[in-house]
Amino acid sequence: MNFENIILEQHDGLAQLTINRPKKLNALNKDTIQELHEAFKALEDDADTKVILLTGSGEKAFVAGADISEFAHFSEEEGKHLAKQGQEKLFDFVSNLSTPVIAAVNGFALGGGLELAMACHFRIASDNAKMGLPEVSLGVIPGYGGTQRLAQLIGKGKAMELIMTAGMISAEEALSCGLVNYVTPQDELLALGEKLASKIMRNSSVAIAAAIRAVNDNYVDGVNGFETEIEEFGACFATEDFKEGTTAFLEKRKPSFPGN
Ligand code: COA
Repeated sequence: MNFENIILEQHDGLAQLTINRPKKLNALNKDTIQELHEAFKALEDDADTKVILLTGSGEKAFVAGADISEFAHFSEEEGKHLAKQGQEKLFDFVSNLSTPVIAAVNGFALGGGLELAMACHFRIASDNAKMGLPEVSLGVIPGYGGTQRLAQLIGKGKAMELIMTAGMISAEEALSCGLVNYVTPQDELLALGEKLASKIMRNSSVAIAAAIRAVNDNYVDGVNGFETEIEEFGACFATEDFKEGTTAFLEKRKPSFPGN
């Protein structure tokens, strides 16, 4: 795959995707969103990819937002289209991938950048990271899922405050409100991502995909996540991974999951 705005590196089941527009603080323009869509789709279809680590290039930013220069002149209809297309192509797409995606937030994650990190399955951050949804300071609101996912992750009151003030929080504050799971020095961030990825890879990728579907269904309107859980739980019993996982436990050995 040939990309201009992102870098894809793969080894030992891990795919690292780096958003690579450092001069623009990795701001998400149309082409970058398209390339990310294509890369995530290809990685989802690649049986050898077990975990995806998403980060930004340089030491300053994960992603400083959607590219403001691209939409500053948009009409109401174009604005609606921008949000809808972006959500479908990238943000919901990532959130619904069955391959686990970890965001390694290595600096500013603002606006669309924080929305992208929040669409990932979980987040880790470097200690210089700063996060926020500054859209109302531009006269607009978050359009890539931010109004929904921030409230889901940190609670309605704190999300309202962050959105209304257009403020930024530090990595430590993000840790204390559950927006990120770990904070590390910047030069240790990717190593931590790899360590977490290797823990995930020891487990059944078939079961992990089912778990992602069940957890996500809590947030889908009109869908009962508990019912999804029952269905997915039952479906696991018909898998080779379940046979191997339980047999290996009873035989006191490490499992070798056929689905991996
Ligand atoms: N869209 C387009 N370009 C962006 C951008 C964005 N979201 N964020 C940063 N850039 C560009 C800047 O325009 C600048 O480009 P230039 O060198 O061609 O002028 C370059 O990236 C570096 O940014 P700069 O603002 O000079 O860096 P800084 O260290 O002074 O400030 C930020 C860093 C993150 C505080 C600042 O860039 C910023 O506020 N960005 C916008 C954040 C935002 O509102 N995001 C939500 C968008 S909906």
